[in-house]
Amino acid sequence: MGPGDLQDLIDSLCIETNEQVIVGPGDDAAVFKINNLSIIQTVDFITPVVNDPFSYGAISACNSLSDIYAMGGIPLTALAIVGFSVCDLGAEVLKLTLHGALSILNSAGTVLIGGHCIDDKEMKFGLAVTGVTRNHKILTVGGAQEGNLLILTKPIGVGVITTALKGGKLTDEETEVAKKWMMTLNEEASIRALKAGATACTDVTGFGLLGHAYNMVKGSNLDILIDYQKVPVLDRVFDLIDRGMVALGAYNNLSYLEGKVQYDEDLTTEHRLVLADPQTSGGLLIALPEGSLGHFDGIYHRVIGRFIKGSGRIFVQNC
Ligand code: CO
Ligand code: CO
Ligand code: CO
Repeated sequence: MGPGDLQDLIDSLCIETNEQVIVGPGDDAAVFKINNLSIIQTVDFITPVVNDPFSYGAISACNSLSDIYAMGGIPLTALAIVGFSVCDLGAEVLKLTLHGALSILNSAGTVLIGGHCIDDKEMKFGLAVTGVTRNHKILTVGGAQEGNLLILTKPIGVGVITTALKGGKLTDEETEVAKKWMMTLNEEASIRALKAGATACTDVTGFGLLGHAYNMVKGSNLDILIDYQKVPVLDRVFDLIDRGMVALGAYNNLSYLEGKVQYDEDLTTEHRLVLADPQTSGGLLIALPEGSLGHFDGIYHRVIGRFIKGSGRIFVQNC
């Protein structure tokens, strides 16, 4: 049983029968309606992906806020979730982590209103975030239409980069570009998606580009054609994969996706591993009517594929 299956298990046990639950388990975040107000809730926490605590806190905060943006929402409040051993690391590390998170929360206009810490040998940090909808609109993971474009708002490969950092194959300086992306909020991309009339949206995190793209068509009468050549990948990633720097999660994701994704024959295992590379604080995947692409002028985005009639599968072409 891989992480994808475990997530399915959690989702299947969540109660979906309450009529105030507008969006239930299986999406990036849940939406609960009280009178005229739609409340968006999500939780995420991660182990350290970089060496300096301030950046780790900032990246984790960005990652936790991302599910609110993936729903088109505005994050209002956050609660910190911390696993930490003061004896091993010292209070200063936790303080810096929180300062990193606060720097991101401040720029997002989100208030840290509390948290909970347990003693834990392997550090964990993340946020439970509560938000509201922007103009009563909700971007769900499903809902894409035939003919929509699939766009991605950050390059992939940060899982390989952070694995290489842990494995001593990269210096901290060499991870700066990946760090910059992980510390980039999906706020602007989310606002543009709403303005552009996006039909569906999700963020790329632990299940990799393919896993999250698959969630957009799972059980639907659509397939996605992904053009491999259009998928943006960070520099050095292929070199690092050749040197064995692949997160275990990438292999788990590939096996979960067996039978759900079909690849052009000339796409090697390395190509497939990149497409399944688990991302921390990855970009948004957005289903967009073709004529609305202009709304993304001036912010980073790549058109990587298209939704066509089908049966909930993904085809990766190497054109
Ligand atoms: Co998500
Ligand atoms: Co989510
Ligand atoms: Co999440």
